[in-house]
Amino acid sequence: MVDRTERISEENIQRQRDFADKVRTVISALASERGRLYKFRVVTYGCQQNEADSERLAGMLSSMGYEKAQSEADADLILVNTCAVREHAEIRALSVTGQYKHLKERDPELIIGVCGCMVSQEHRLDDIKHRYPYVDFAFGTSYLWKLPEILYTKLTNKKRMFLPDADADGNIAENIPVMRESSYRAWLSVMYGCNNFCTYCVVPHVRGRERSRYKEDIIAEAGKLIADGVKDITLLGQNVNSYGKGLYEGYGFPELLEEIASLDGDFTLRFMTSHPKDATERLIDVMARNEKIAPQLHLPLQSGSDRVLEMMNRRYTLDSYIRLVDYAREKIPGLTLTSDIMVGFPGETEEDFEDTLSALSRIKYDMVFSFIYSRRRNTPAAERPDQIPEDVKGERFRRMLALQSDIGLEINRGYVGKTVRVLCDGASKNDPDMLAGRTDGGKNICFKGSCPEGGYTYVKITDARPFVLMGEESVG
Ligand code: 5AD
Ligand code: SF4
Repeated sequence: MVDRTERISEENIQRQRDFADKVRTVISALASERGRLYKFRVVTYGCQQNEADSERLAGMLSSMGYEKAQSEADADLILVNTCAVREHAEIRALSVTGQYKHLKERDPELIIGVCGCMVSQEHRLDDIKHRYPYVDFAFGTSYLWKLPEILYTKLTNKKRMFLPDADADGNIAENIPVMRESSYRAWLSVMYGCNNFCTYCVVPHVRGRERSRYKEDIIAEAGKLIADGVKDITLLGQNVNSYGKGLYEGYGFPELLEEIASLDGDFTLRFMTSHPKDATERLIDVMARNEKIAPQLHLPLQSGSDRVLEMMNRRYTLDSYIRLVDYAREKIPGLTLTSDIMVGFPGETEEDFEDTLSALSRIKYDMVFSFIYSRRRNTPAAERPDQIPEDVKGERFRRMLALQSDIGLEINRGYVGKTVRVLCDGASKNDPDMLAGRTDGGKNICFKGSCPEGGYTYVKITDARPFVLMGEESVG
């Protein structure tokens, strides 16, 4: 049960604001002494939740008098917000942190901090403490809101600080300043943590148990975003369909979604992630009848084999999954459906893997986020003796990508000739002469046109690629 006392008291939050003021005083004294601004850089790895956390870290740093730096080389404080979902993400964060050593040698006053999921694990916190002596502090996900106090202590005591995330169940901190990356797309967390304990996954260990924000806080934040001109809001949670459990009777995610969708204003609402065991027809009905909810569903299947799903502790079958997808497609025409698929889970046979391939061919996702199973400490799957050799995992991964790329292309070809509404994200990263954007269904689109960043426009699809639609802005 979520206990109301899990909210961090306003008194404690105020204490952090007081620390922020003290840091601001220290920083502005330093800045005027040196005749220049003090700058921060937050480097983010991992999922949307981490991106949302980084916007809060940036918001707190800005409230403490730091300006945003253009690069790490230009920063007086670097904060690495890490991910722990796969080993690869950890190795990258560690190697990037390693590269900051030379920046510290050049400027011994540079402050380097590491935070987030990776250092919520005690062994990684110890690694950082002992193997990266130039890192000044590290703290896990449950201490994010204490950044002002941590920084103040660092600036005044000069001592290194490593906070074990003993309280990984965390608390909910409201009213933390936020500096958003975009003025027209925004993340909005509705809950934190996860209770599902999929046997491969480290998230419940590093982000703690599920806890929901009060609906009043969420709705007020949504209202503020809309008033600020945000056009595209993504509600975030590890499993949004658990929203409200233990907090409310008879009020869950579908109700929250519908209440936000009924707010006044011109905006689109999305959400992620939905665990298939908890996504209901009621959720689909709410999506179908509310125009402001995007026709987009991210519903991670993970594997097409019931045997593997059971070993993963996913608690649904391929059949029940497909029934829900069929229902959603019937109710929501033009639905964009995406998924997470993992290959090489311990014990996965060639036959299990082929079940996944046939599930992909049967379901036909618009897009799949594909992962090679990565062994995570303290998870049951990591202890299994039947780990799959790396070369077999790699080969399955490539086969899956090839199939999905054909499926994605086939689906995208079906769009050619149609005109779709697009929210423009400015110049394309791959081709500066083209614009990039997303359709209402969240599909990537690259197009010729003159729409300003953050504006809506209509685009006629002229060509298709496996991962992106190509088009031209249609005038009039
Ligand atoms: N190895 C590989 N992929 C993983 N994911 C979660 N844990 C692991 C792991 N140990 C993937 C799942 C999840 C996505 C966010 O990351 O597919 O849905
Ligand atoms: Fe990890 Fe499963 Fe929770 Fe998703 S639902 S965060 S995969 S434990």
